[in-house]
Amino acid sequence: MSDFITVQKRTHYCGQVSAADLGKSVVLMGWTHRRRDHGGVIFVDLRDREGLVQVVFNPETNPGSHQVAHRIRSEFVLAVRGTVRRRPEGMENPNMKTGEVEVLADELEILNESKTPPFPLDADAEVSENVRLRYRYLDLRRTNLQHNIILRSRAAAATREYFHGQGFIEVETPVLTKSTPEGARDYLVPSRVNPGMFYALPQSPQIFKQLLMVSGFDRYYQIVKCFRDEDLRADRQPEFTQIDLEMSFIEENDLITIMEGFMAQLFRTCLGVELEIPFTRIPYRDAMNRFGKDSPDTRFALELRDLTEILQSCGFNLFQEVANMGGVIKAIKIEDNRKLSRKDLDELRDYVADFGAKGLAWARVNPDGWTSPIAKFLKPEEMKAVEAQMEAKEGDLIVFVADKLGIVHDSLGNLRIYVARKLGLIEPGRFAFAWITEFPLMEFSETEKRFVSTHHPFTSPVMEDLPFLETDPGKVRARAYDLVLNGSEIGGGSIRIHRQDVQALIFKTLGLSEEEARQKFGFLLDALEFGTPPHGGLAFGFDRLIMMMTGTESIRDVIAFPKTQKATCLLTDAPSPVSIGQLMELSLKIVQ
Ligand code: AMO
Ligand code: AMP
Repeated sequence: MSDFITVQKRTHYCGQVSAADLGKSVVLMGWTHRRRDHGGVIFVDLRDREGLVQVVFNPETNPGSHQVAHRIRSEFVLAVRGTVRRRPEGMENPNMKTGEVEVLADELEILNESKTPPFPLDADAEVSENVRLRYRYLDLRRTNLQHNIILRSRAAAATREYFHGQGFIEVETPVLTKSTPEGARDYLVPSRVNPGMFYALPQSPQIFKQLLMVSGFDRYYQIVKCFRDEDLRADRQPEFTQIDLEMSFIEENDLITIMEGFMAQLFRTCLGVELEIPFTRIPYRDAMNRFGKDSPDTRFALELRDLTEILQSCGFNLFQEVANMGGVIKAIKIEDNRKLSRKDLDELRDYVADFGAKGLAWARVNPDGWTSPIAKFLKPEEMKAVEAQMEAKEGDLIVFVADKLGIVHDSLGNLRIYVARKLGLIEPGRFAFAWITEFPLMEFSETEKRFVSTHHPFTSPVMEDLPFLETDPGKVRARAYDLVLNGSEIGGGSIRIHRQDVQALIFKTLGLSEEEARQKFGFLLDALEFGTPPHGGLAFGFDRLIMMMTGTESIRDVIAFPKTQKATCLLTDAPSPVSIGQLMELSLKIVQ
């Protein structure tokens, strides 16, 4: 018997053995997915990253291997040499890529044993996420996660290929750095050699990439880790990856065209999907009015329509009051063919309550009028006007929310997604992209009692709006754009300010004194005085992009070693306490 690892070497991945190999002798190495003992013949499904193949140990043709095969248990690591043959008629497995064939073993070596895994490694086994994360290395053996991580690797390769092809230069920027302004909290790292001083981990390479434009690199990109200490959600992690890029001597359309080319190539090479470009562009204001969100899911209609004018003086007191207080009455039309019952409507009402809506009025359009709790308050012509505004026909359901604009948009904006899922209106496999443009440059923060940047303070205002900076800053539009895919913000960027005087004016409007601005971003302000070209860029959330490409709901399913909702790593137990000695070395003391 010759040694498998040093002499024989693997000839095929398990998942790649096919009818083209019939009669060949193959050497496979992998993990025991399942072993079945059919009183004599032993079957093993052998698994590696490419898939499974059935290996047969026959006591008559090869008693030695058959003897050893008795010892095999789940997840044992095996090396097998055998002959590929067609499965006997009726034994084919159409659900398996290699289901036509099997490998009759001539030689077997158990390369290593395994304890019984704490959970079954079948793709569809229901296992608590905490257990999966604790044993992440086993979880990662499951085919769905392997698929996600492999697709992620292919997407990274396709990204590099595209950007190099477009003349972009990959530059690494520092991880131990100074605070970068993306609006989240910083992760801080104490400096041992400078007691009492801290680095911040970058929330993005924003400032460095702008400096690279000052340096003349012209087109920069990087696949880069970013760190943000913010409340986690299903699509957020404290450390995540961006495809970050910046370009000089361009305007919005140049950048958008190159990004659309990137998406098209990425989806073609990784998924075999042809995207339709150019993507729709929706100004921020329209996105809010039509979808209630700045990251609209455009795979289905259910658009919001404004009924304030029609209903502000109707007989329903509540609508009148809301309109008088400066609020709005908006509605969505659901073409549900009468599927939704009263009980469903109560469920929808409870759902919008979470977003602050005090109720959800509804109306079913019938040939002889409405079935609706508010029908008695409306005149026939008001109902007709509502139907016309909603383009409603017989059998449609209209649901209304009246409140402050923010609450109406939030509740109806989320309700349309809820309803689309509930009624199965979302076509599987569809990718709906949209650029959101003309964001406001600043928003008034009630907590901070001042204007704060919507994007970040280096975003260029639309020049014709500059006069409003002093009189009505909320009205100034930004030269910023987000890319939204199926309702998820997968990227965002802007044309930057390249003039020092404009940058200083923005800092002033944001309530940042000259001294503070100097202390925070002095090096950027200095650089702007040394010949900064007009420039702009964007960053994609790589993890979110892979979520959309794999169709997974959780960002943790596309990251090899993710953190929990509480920003912990269950595998390594990070974060963890450190010794007094380490703290002293850093001149730190824990106050509790
Ligand atoms: P922004 O803050 O919009 O822009 O980030 C760009 C993209 O990164 C993704 N993203 C995240 N993904 C996972 N977890 C997080 N915590 C997280 N935060 C953001 C999103 C988002 O669209 N420097 C600017 C870009 C630029 O102006 O060029 C920036 O970072 O998909
Ligand atoms: P009521 O007269 O309180 O029973 O309300 C009549 C209908 O109006 C019910 O269907 C309520 O759910 C709905 N409603 C109550 N408050 C609001 C609101 N702010 N916006 C929309 N509908 C509401």
